[in-house]
Amino acid sequence: MEYSVLYNGVKVPMIGFGTWKPEGRESVDVNRMALEAGYRYFDTASYYGTEPAIGEAIAASGIAREEIFITSKIDKPEMGYDNTKKAIQGTLKRLQTDYLDLYLIHWPKDQIDNPDWKQLDIDTWRAMEELYGDGVVKAIGVSNFLPHHLENMIQNCRMKPMVDQIEFHPGYTQEATVQYCKERGILVQAWSPMGRRRVLEEPLVVELSEKYGVSAAKICLRYAIQRGITVLPKSSSMERMKQNLDLFDFEISNEDMYRISSMPQAGWSGLHPDRERVQV
Ligand code: A2P
Repeated sequence: MEYSVLYNGVKVPMIGFGTWKPEGRESVDVNRMALEAGYRYFDTASYYGTEPAIGEAIAASGIAREEIFITSKIDKPEMGYDNTKKAIQGTLKRLQTDYLDLYLIHWPKDQIDNPDWKQLDIDTWRAMEELYGDGVVKAIGVSNFLPHHLENMIQNCRMKPMVDQIEFHPGYTQEATVQYCKERGILVQAWSPMGRRRVLEEPLVVELSEKYGVSAAKICLRYAIQRGITVLPKSSSMERMKQNLDLFDFEISNEDMYRISSMPQAGWSGLHPDRERVQV
């Protein structure tokens, strides 16, 4: 597995298993399958409801904790200095662990119309810096932050975020945010790297899948990897889980990388941190 190295030296695998949606027994089975397929990196969030299932699947696997990379995220109602200190305890308990590899603020605003979101982010981050200092979390970052949200943190906080996890896939590459992060040494991670299947039928993605003799999903995932962006694909099938781990045996040419980067918008989820959900 290839890695990215954060500015504090922590190594983050380039491929992680995305775990949003299935809950309960179904989720334990999916996560057990992902471990069997070879995933050693699980991306979850307090909001997803999948922390207990991941904890159970890992505990049952007998695989040593240090061999697994776990990310979780602070939910909107958990933001704020005191709340964050409490929230991490629930997350650790549900995951049956005593540390996280990476802890993120899930969204920059708890409510779209909160006029005090900047202070809320700063207070939340101060608690995260302390958790990092105590070694309870090995790295800290944010998710769904755009440059203007990041700017607030960079100007007003002691530590800069190490990671920004955003929606990223062909047809929605958020170049302003990616560029902002690259210039400041912040690792970008892709949620929904295949646009939840929506981009797998885009003409350019299909054309390149035929040209390179790989699935459309692999074109999407490899595109992110070549841009130095971590991918967090989800799947419920063993075959596709394995396929999504197998991204290092082909290379997309520079010309085709530029063609993907200039595709018209496609597959956007409708989620934007400053707006109510848009139906797409
Ligand atoms: P499935 O569970 O049937 O594999 P994203 O991570 O971009 O949100 O996309 C997740 C969706 O993409 C899931 O619906 C998953 O369905 C599907 N998917 C995951 N891997 C592949 C693949 N290799 N080929 C086609 N579809 C895939």
